[in-house]
Amino acid sequence: MEKLETRYVWEWPVRIVHWVNFLSIMTLSVTGIYIGWGKTLAHDPSQYVMGWMRFIHFVVGFVFTISVLSRIYWAFVGNKYANWRTFVPWLFKDGRKNMKDTFLFYTFFKSEAPHVVGHNAMAGSAYLWIFALYLVMICTGFALYSESAPGGFFSSAFGWVFVFGSNQGLRLTHHCVMWLLLAFAIHHVYSAWLMDVKEKNGVMSSIFGGYKSVPEGE
Ligand code: HEM
Ligand code: HEM
Repeated sequence: MEKLETRYVWEWPVRIVHWVNFLSIMTLSVTGIYIGWGKTLAHDPSQYVMGWMRFIHFVVGFVFTISVLSRIYWAFVGNKYANWRTFVPWLFKDGRKNMKDTFLFYTFFKSEAPHVVGHNAMAGSAYLWIFALYLVMICTGFALYSESAPGGFFSSAFGWVFVFGSNQGLRLTHHCVMWLLLAFAIHHVYSAWLMDVKEKNGVMSSIFGGYKSVPEGE
């Protein structure tokens, strides 16, 4: 029988960012869908539901932005499992091999999932795109936000985003990327669960507590 040891893999900033992002995306999706719907649920205008939805959207939008920026910072100062290299495995020999083996496992050509302590190479590369989508949401979100104060700070910082589209184009992009993130979340929970069962390494609980079970000496 393989002997397992407990290893501290996800440091607290990685876990906090993950769950802050998750809660933010859920809140931003609910409030965003309401904003995009464009009608109000209130019969009495004094209830000001749209105003509250937009207010919550903007406050959580700021929280989400700080959280994403903190994770980018941590990719340069955190442990090796949090490092930026884990998101670009194809740049390294080991990463390319792990990517191939994980792909063969996912496509049923191999029955054993390759062992890795941090993100497997396929997951790491997928997360790179998720972070890119986070940045798309932040840039389009702040560009839309800047429209309420032309010439202000946000308009100077994010006005360039309008090079890629009009107000409607940016709203549509902002809206569609939300659905991409929600679709990813379904697949992500499924595959994390699958790897938890297959690898028996406690990956699911690791995103809460930080620890994984790994073969001794790996
Ligand atoms: C993953 C994160 C986010 C999600 C899922 C999300 C979702 C949405 C959705 C669905 C809409 C409605 C678009 C439409 O159909 O017209 C919206 C509007 C908007 N969002 Fe976001 N959003 C996110 C992040 C942000 C961020 C970081 C900001 C920055 C402050 C932001 C600011 C805005 C603004 C200004 C609007 C337009 C509000 C209006 O016109 O009344 N969003 N968002
Ligand atoms: C909007 C929903 C979600 C998004 C966008 C998302 C995104 C991510 C990202 C980007 C990472 C990499 C973390 C890092 O290195 O900083 C990650 C890791 C992880 N997430 Fe999520 N997550 C979501 C929801 C969830 C939920 C609901 C669960 C479990 C119930 C979960 C379980 C995990 C686990 C176990 C890991 C680490 C394992 C691994 O290497 O893949 N996630 N997630």
